[in-house]
Amino acid sequence: MIDPFGRSISYLRVSVTDRCDLRCVYCMAEDMTFLPKSEVLTLEELDRLCGTFIGLGVRKLRLTGGEPLVRRNVMSLVRSLGARIGAGGLEELTLTTNGTQLTKHAEGLAAAGVRRINVSLDTLDAAAFKAATRWGELDKVLDGIFAAKSAGLHVKINAVALRGVNEDEFDRMLAWCGEHGFDLCLIETMPLGEINEDRTDQFLPLSLVRARLRQRWTLNETDYSTGGPARYFDVAETGTRLGFITPMTHNFCESCNRVRLTCTGTLYMCLGQEDAADLRAPLRDPELGEEGLRQAIRDAIARKPKGHDFVIDRRRRAPAVARHMSV
Ligand code: GTP
Ligand code: 5AD
Ligand code: SF4
Repeated sequence: MIDPFGRSISYLRVSVTDRCDLRCVYCMAEDMTFLPKSEVLTLEELDRLCGTFIGLGVRKLRLTGGEPLVRRNVMSLVRSLGARIGAGGLEELTLTTNGTQLTKHAEGLAAAGVRRINVSLDTLDAAAFKAATRWGELDKVLDGIFAAKSAGLHVKINAVALRGVNEDEFDRMLAWCGEHGFDLCLIETMPLGEINEDRTDQFLPLSLVRARLRQRWTLNETDYSTGGPARYFDVAETGTRLGFITPMTHNFCESCNRVRLTCTGTLYMCLGQEDAADLRAPLRDPELGEEGLRQAIRDAIARKPKGHDFVIDRRRRAPAVARHMSV
C-alpha cells in the first residue's frame, strides 16, 4: 500500500480495547468513560481485519490499547495473529503494554511468536509512579517486566518526558535499563484528548533532556530502526539503546509507515489528525466480501495526510486532537 506521498504502509497499530486499569495523567482523565462493549469489534473480527491488512502489505502489527492485556481472551487473538508470522506474511507481532498483567501473560506472548515488547514506565519511584498513574503499583509492573525478560522477550521501556514529574530521573532510568539489558525510549507528550490538566506546563522538549544525558553518557548515533518513530543512539557504557520520539520538536512524518485501527474498526490514517475511515461497516457487510473490505482500506490509505499538526500552545486550551491515545 503506497499513500499519496509515496510512503509505503507496512505497520498497523491496533487498539484492541479503549479500557485501561491505570489512568496516566497525560493520557486519560480520571473519570474517563469507556465505550459500551457492543461497539467494540470481536476478537474474530479484529483477526480477520488484521489478516486483510497483511494481505495488503502490512508486515508489522502492534497491539495497543488502552491496555491490550486487560481485554478478555486477548491471548486467543495473539495466538491467531502469531500463526500469521512467516509464511502468513507477517514479519513482526508485538505490543505496547503498561506491564500490570505481564506476569500472567509473558510466557504466552513468547510462545505465540512475540519477540519484543514496549512497556510504558515513566518513573522508577513508587510514589511518583502512583501519582503519574493515579493508583498504579510500581512493583507489579516491575514484576511484569522481569517476567517478560525471563520469558526471553526483549523489553523497551517507554517513558513520556514530563516536566515536574520525571525530569530528574532519566539518568537513573538509563542506568537501570542498562543494568537489565532494556532499551529506553523517551517521548514528548502530545496534545491528545482532554485530560483535565495543563499540558503546556508538563511539556519537556527532548533536546534539553538529551543534552543533559550527554554530560554523563556516551551517546553514539546509529541508524538502527524498529520501523517506528524513534531515533536511536547506542549507549556506549551500557550496550543498550536510547531512543527519542520527538513529534513536537522534530517531525518524523515524512517517513511515516503506519496507520492506527481502533477497537471499533475506525482507521486513523494519522495519529495526529481527526480524519478517519470506518472499516466496521464494510467488515460486517456480507455483500461486500473480502474484496470490498480491501477496497475500503485502499481508499482510506489514499486519504493519508502529509503529517500531524500538533502544537503545544498556552493560548489554545483544547487539545489539538480531541480523541485520546487509548481509543
Ligand atoms: P517500535 O516498534 O518499538 O518502534 O514502537 P513504536 O514507537 O512504534 O510504538 P509505541 O507504542 O512504543 O509508541 C511510542 C510512542 O510513539 C507513543 O507515544 C506513540 O503514540 C508514539 N507514536 C507511534 N506512532 C506514532 C505516529 O505515527 N505519530 C506520532 N505523532 N506518534 C506516534
Ligand atoms: N503523548 C505522548 N505519549 C503518550 N502516550 C499516551 N498518551 C500520550 C501522549 N499524550 C504513550 C504511552 C505509551 C504509548 C502507547 O503512548 O506512555 O507508552
Ligand atoms: Fe493506560 Fe497507557 Fe494511557 Fe497509562 S498511557 S492510562 S497505561 S493507556
